[in-house]
Amino acid sequence: MDQDELKRAAALAALEFVVDGEVVGVGTGSTANHFIDGLATIKQRIRGAVASSEASATRLAGHGIRLLDLNDVERMPVYVDGADEIDPGLSMIKGGGGALTREKIVAAVAERFVCICDASKRVRHLGKYPLPVEVIPMARAHVARRLSALGGEPRLREGFVTDNGNQILDVHGLTIDDPVALEAEIDHVAGVVSNGLFAIRGADVLLMAAADGVERRLRS
Ligand code: 5RP
Repeated sequence: MDQDELKRAAALAALEFVVDGEVVGVGTGSTANHFIDGLATIKQRIRGAVASSEASATRLAGHGIRLLDLNDVERMPVYVDGADEIDPGLSMIKGGGGALTREKIVAAVAERFVCICDASKRVRHLGKYPLPVEVIPMARAHVARRLSALGGEPRLREGFVTDNGNQILDVHGLTIDDPVALEAEIDHVAGVVSNGLFAIRGADVLLMAAADGVERRLRS
């Protein structure tokens, strides 16, 4: 199986976590796209979906899946999304697609975060993948200086504007010994909207596809 087939296998395995009659939170990216395509086959069983990006909303709507505003949702049993890196404690780096802020918001409402990915996303320590940080444009230089002081090398994602009208700094070379502490520290820099560490609220379930099948892990 190639990498895209592995992503699809992980995504389809997540369908069994969808709860009948309830709302599903939907992530962003190529793996999440496979999940959306799978969700279309059981769309009559769910109340609707909340999208974490305009791109996912468009794909959901294209399948005729009812889109809900997060503000109208009180209960969301599950949020399904991919990751750029995931460590043994199920902390993640996300935001390769630039949707980290809405992903974090939708995930915060969900009772369970199901991470779907292929085995290339597994790491022992987070940080080889550059950490995305969404910034208010006027704060970009200030935030970049603070990220440099933390030991990283921030680079502006050229020509990219988030769904929220902001910019992304991709931070290379960070040493991430304590993902929970670093997530909180970066979020406290004035001008940061959110950062791509998902450690304070990591995944609850990991569905990781490899050539020999889809491995299931629960957060311990
Ligand atoms: C988007 C994300 C994605 O989940 C992450 O980039 C993984 O993408 P893909 O499924 O295409 O490998 O965080 O903001």
